Amino acid sequence: MRSSPAWIIQKKRDGKELTETEIREFVTGVVSGEVADYQATALLMAIFFRGMSLDETVALTQAMLESGERYTLNEVPGPKVDKHSTGGVGDKVSLILAPLAAACGLRVPMMSGRGLGHTGGTLDKLESIPGFSTALDRERFGQVLSKVGCAMIGQSARVAPADRKLYALRDVTGTVECVPLIVASILSKKLAEGTGALVLDVKVGNGAFMKTRAKAAQLAKALIRVSERMGVPCRALLTDMSQPLGYTVGNALEIREVIEILRNAGEAGTSCDLKEVTLALCAQMLELGGKARGAAQGRKLAREKLDDGSAWRSFRELVREQGGSVDAVDDPDRLARAPRQLVYASPRKGHVGRMDTEALGRLLVELGGGRMKATDTVDPAVGLVFHRKLGARVEVGEPLVTVHHQDAHDPERLRLQLGRSIEITRIRKPVPKLIIATVGGQLS
Ligand code: URA
Repeated sequence: MRSSPAWIIQKKRDGKELTETEIREFVTGVVSGEVADYQATALLMAIFFRGMSLDETVALTQAMLESGERYTLNEVPGPKVDKHSTGGVGDKVSLILAPLAAACGLRVPMMSGRGLGHTGGTLDKLESIPGFSTALDRERFGQVLSKVGCAMIGQSARVAPADRKLYALRDVTGTVECVPLIVASILSKKLAEGTGALVLDVKVGNGAFMKTRAKAAQLAKALIRVSERMGVPCRALLTDMSQPLGYTVGNALEIREVIEILRNAGEAGTSCDLKEVTLALCAQMLELGGKARGAAQGRKLAREKLDDGSAWRSFRELVREQGGSVDAVDDPDRLARAPRQLVYASPRKGHVGRMDTEALGRLLVELGGGRMKATDTVDPAVGLVFHRKLGARVEVGEPLVTVHHQDAHDPERLRLQLGRSIEITRIRKPVPKLIIATVGGQLS
């Protein structure tokens, strides 16, 4: 006999464990409309306060995964390993990592999202390359993956429709920050793409979803346990997001930075943090995919493939196969460029002591480079270039940030916002560790 939605809500409200069947029926009802939005919201709030056991979280993830289309990619030979980031500011890692891991012999079937709120999205960055299509059908996705070693597409509306519905409700009912709900949301989409293993980049800091190390570690462990229970080996790195990653924030500017790193054309020291995080994640992917015996060997292989130009060649091939302009990536001056540039200089002598990373991400949205709601369009040209990062010594009047903006933006207001977001301290504060911890292996 089917349980009524009201009974399932009461059971969770009273702190009892739901069965797999109850969870599946509820999720099916959410997608079909049989379960009303107010009932779905009531269950989400009950889960928020009562939590979920591992078995319940696995059942919720499975039910959400089965609510939509699922790729198997059996026709693509080779170890399939993907990466997922919990989101940050200036996080362009996927754009370097996917072609790099492909150049090292993995297959990277990457389904990504768009930027929302203060965090950026891989799809928006890719679409600032003229012609690049992230809307490949299932067959073409498999073809590009086989040929290039990686393919980068958006989630179709057919993937995990239960998450689409539940996430929209969570967003407006104060139930986003809940570990079992985040785990089911992320994994139901990631496991739909047909990857054989998964590496997670769980961001920590004032620009991340999880502001503290403890919370990030809790999320990472839950993601790993559920993924492994569902047959997909998984590891996580906790990495710092208390300042933007790399030197650029904004879609076309970030593509330029990616190209610089892939071509090894960066000045010494440029984007060290971005390169380090990418190599560390690639090392984990290579170990999970059986291409390296340990992370140290994986990092060495990744470094070689970055330095010898193999990753750059994979990136160019990816651009070509997905309809993008290879001329534009060969000559990044062809990418979109904003008409105005404003240099924000340090108001005093000292050190870059703190950045309000979330506020910097929101500034990009204000400039037009991000979106507050899913239907907003983004301006690929606008953004921020950071000349100094946390810990750097600065003189008064020394350039800290160049803002790329459109005519409509008031320079004084931009200066004021940057002044509030970047703190110059007399004494140098310790810079947070970039790779904070590795989580994974044998968790019970
Ligand atoms: N990203 C997701 O896809 N879902 C969440 O719940 C949080 C972050």
